[in-house]
Amino acid sequence: MTRIFSGIKPSGHLTLGNYLGAVRQWVASDQEPDEALFCVVDLHALTVEHDPARVRRLTRQAATLLLAAGLDPQRCTLFVQSHVDEHTRLAYLLECTASDGELRRMIQYKEKAARAQGAGEGVRLSLLTYPVLMAADILAYGAQEVPVGEDQRQHVELTRDLAVRFNQRYGHTFTVPKATHPKVAARVMDLQEPTSKMGKSHENGAGIVYLLDEPEVVTKKVMRAVTDTGDGGVVYDRQARPGVANLLDLLAACTGGDPAALAGGYSGYGALKRDVADAVVELLRPVRERHAELAADPGAVEKVLREGAGRARALARPLVDRAHEAIGLLAP
Ligand code: TYM
Repeated sequence: MTRIFSGIKPSGHLTLGNYLGAVRQWVASDQEPDEALFCVVDLHALTVEHDPARVRRLTRQAATLLLAAGLDPQRCTLFVQSHVDEHTRLAYLLECTASDGELRRMIQYKEKAARAQGAGEGVRLSLLTYPVLMAADILAYGAQEVPVGEDQRQHVELTRDLAVRFNQRYGHTFTVPKATHPKVAARVMDLQEPTSKMGKSHENGAGIVYLLDEPEVVTKKVMRAVTDTGDGGVVYDRQARPGVANLLDLLAACTGGDPAALAGGYSGYGALKRDVADAVVELLRPVRERHAELAADPGAVEKVLREGAGRARALARPLVDRAHEAIGLLAP
């Protein structure tokens, strides 16, 4: 069995990018409670300006959506990061092996720090140390694989570096994990700005399909997607035609086809957009419907999260205890 760990941040409503890039892979994995761990990483949502009540609401909503998307609590462990103290315990130990320079080089740090400064907000220290906490999330469970979208590649690389460094300095403690990405849609782009990632914290929602958008809204967003100028019909070229390539990726991800081959079936953008809209609506319909059922019983979701945290803690504690001693701390 391969142990997998992955997480999602409750910093906004979940998007089609989250679903195709990550969540769908989690649902498709061979789930076993001790081998498949999925986490709503709420501590990570506190690294930029946040509204406390909203983070709490989004944490519950994210967990409910993950269940609606098909995570089975009998076959995987679903929990909330802040409910398992081992994450922050280990993060501190890893901070003692990471350097300021390597954290400042992280692309997401640079982008988010620039955004915070642009908005006249301070850059929280936790934004800089974010990838170390992420490394702790993964390493605390000895995860071998981390199913994520393309944008998390650099963070998983850092996790590997920290694991190797710790093992070399303090003796073998951590499994060195690797990132896995879906074949298509590992980086879903914004429908209005197809050179940027579709991200849940963008201000303008017109280019973002949210998992809970009504079918009419999904259709409207897809039909208004920015396409590219230039003739030559519908071709798959991510560099020269990012808007159309994104639509073809979406269609391929929904229907299981190959984006370049699908391009041959279209002579115009209108028909392509209509098919993409229909495919996305059908993909999301069962998730939305199941979410409505589950949201009616928040107590049941909370029970899943409580049991998940118990299992996660039992798995993480021995490993974090080992790291605690290895680095030079006295066992309590
Ligand atoms: P987050 O919450 O931004 O995204 C959750 C997952 O969705 C993927 N994703 C996308 N995939 C394709 N196209 C997109 N447009 C797109 N947008 C998001 C992300 O790659 C991710 O897999 N730092 C992480 C959360 C995290 C984590 C972890 C992940 C914290 N600790 C440990 C794995 C393991 C993040 O912000 O993801």
